[in-house]
Amino acid sequence: MDPKALKIEAARAALSHVEDGMKLGIGTGSTAEEFVRLLAARVGEGLSVIGVPTSERTAALCNELGVPLTTLDEEPALDLVVDGADEIDPDLSLIKGGGGALLREKIVAATSKRMIVIADKSKLVPVLGAFPLPIEVNKFGLKATELAIRAAGSALGLNCDFRLRMTGNEPFVTDGGHLIIDASFGRIRDARALSEALHAIPGVVEHGLFLGLADVAIIAAEGGIETITATRH
Ligand code: A5P
Repeated sequence: MDPKALKIEAARAALSHVEDGMKLGIGTGSTAEEFVRLLAARVGEGLSVIGVPTSERTAALCNELGVPLTTLDEEPALDLVVDGADEIDPDLSLIKGGGGALLREKIVAATSKRMIVIADKSKLVPVLGAFPLPIEVNKFGLKATELAIRAAGSALGLNCDFRLRMTGNEPFVTDGGHLIIDASFGRIRDARALSEALHAIPGVVEHGLFLGLADVAIIAAEGGIETITATRH
């Protein structure tokens, strides 16, 4: 099975958790896009749902395919968010933000009763950190913020190899108008401590560690679907 087929299988399994009348958070990325395509087909058959997209990119696809959208201001409490991830550990702690949408993704996940993560098996890791952690930062004081992130990482004994995310020759700009530093910390043994240290830096808008947010991970592999349920909440 090619990676796209696995993404479709994970998305299809997540769709079985969607019920008529639900208010949905709709994720960003190539796996979430497969979910949008399948969801749109069900909407075309009469399923009634309303979605809050986690990015302008997802909003555009939903509009193109006819998935009805609203905003968090109109619907500030969602039933379920379905989203992809860059890494998933055994406790369902995640790294997200490879697509640059981590801020809206985290806001939507935090306001959803349940979060289902969909992915192919390559995203499962024993310890987070092989994938560089996306950190969304304010443009103002970029250098000072980078130094503060470096100090926070060093204090926790982590590697600190950082790159400003670029699109061609220009810095990548998020939907919120911020920049992204992709931080290769190496194995993140204490994700909670890193999360708190990053949140304490004024120039950090948000980071891609999603801790205690995912309830279920639907993982597609050659052998079939594996469903992992979080035990801690
Ligand atoms: C978007 O900002 C990300 O959090 C994505 O959910 C994550 O990068 C997974 O994307 P893919 O499904 O394309 O791998």
